[in-house]
Amino acid sequence: LASIEVDVSSLEPGMSMTVKWRGKPVFIRNRTQKEIDDAKGAQISDLKDPVARNANLPADAQATDVARSAGDGKENWLVMIGVCTHLGCIPLGQAGEYGGWFCPCHGSVYDTAGRIRHGPAPQNLAIPVYAFTAEKKIKVG
Ligand code: FES
Repeated sequence: LASIEVDVSSLEPGMSMTVKWRGKPVFIRNRTQKEIDDAKGAQISDLKDPVARNANLPADAQATDVARSAGDGKENWLVMIGVCTHLGCIPLGQAGEYGGWFCPCHGSVYDTAGRIRHGPAPQNLAIPVYAFTAEKKIKVG
């Protein structure tokens, strides 16, 4: 299937789901305000990968929190390919020192915007093409 439509109405703030798209896990998270605030607190200059890696934005967009999220007014939503950019393991959610994702294979640590902060992974978790087709419906792909 080229694209999938996902009903996210069951996700309260602080809840996530993983769906499969093109054979890969896609993490969808309704972030808490604290997670958003924590991610906003990071300076771009402190990031290992300063590029948004968001397929919905220009390739050189900066990895600000809003550029990693579903955008203004929907900044609580994070949609990412759940594949570590090191060697492809699936990171664990709400783990690691930034409370984002932690890859148990070789210790890559991602923050609450899915940006790589420590460890061998070279890039932020990739964000696929997606769009909201209704208030609580996301089309991925
Ligand atoms: Fe994730 Fe190596 S595959 S740290």
